[in-house]
Amino acid sequence: MQHLKIAVFVSGGGTNLQALIDHIEEGEMPARIECVLSSKEDAYGLERARNHNIEGIFIGKKNYPECNERTCKILGILENYKIDLIVLAGYMGILDKAIIEEYRHRIINIHPSLIPSFCGKGFYGEKVHEGVLAYGAKITGATVHFVDEGTDTGPIILQKSVSVEDDDTVESLAKRVLKVEHELLPKAVKLFSEGRLKVEGRCVKEEL
Ligand code: GAR
Repeated sequence: MQHLKIAVFVSGGGTNLQALIDHIEEGEMPARIECVLSSKEDAYGLERARNHNIEGIFIGKKNYPECNERTCKILGILENYKIDLIVLAGYMGILDKAIIEEYRHRIINIHPSLIPSFCGKGFYGEKVHEGVLAYGAKITGATVHFVDEGTDTGPIILQKSVSVEDDDTVESLAKRVLKVEHELLPKAVKLFSEGRLKVEGRCVKEEL
């Protein structure tokens, strides 16, 4: 079977990237991470990539201030590596429409809540868990979805819930949600790599 060529986009610590690297290295799916792109120069995710002999590339507003230029650079890299799937793993940048169009239903994102709750503009990273706790929600979780032109609005691939405890803090909740993310993201990528995800409108079906 031919290997799926993946580009992972990060902005921070990259624990989701690490989970994906580990599952791939354990031989769980016919896939290979060809490159890691970061919107932050000092993202630890870049170091994780280099530790596993994966090219880590910084492309942010700092070195490519113009959106057009940034998009061209990203598209060039994706083309060079003949990327089949883009994985947004804690990526805090916004992808330009040109990339979304070119890779329709071939970009997946992990979000630390049960979409459509606590998602969209302003809800990213710890802000999601702050929102959950401030609202007093009893259940949160993680979602993996395809990326469309909206913010966190694309078809949902996988979700799993996490209970919110009375004494939870942003840190304790983030930790339990991350554990679930590390399970869901590799699972979604594996399903994609096996060609088992079928998108029907807003719904994603798992084929046997
Ligand atoms: C993860 O919780 C991920 O779901 C979230 O950022 C964190 C990155 O952690 N992503 C978003 O909020 C995107 N809207 P990581 O760098 O350790 O994988």
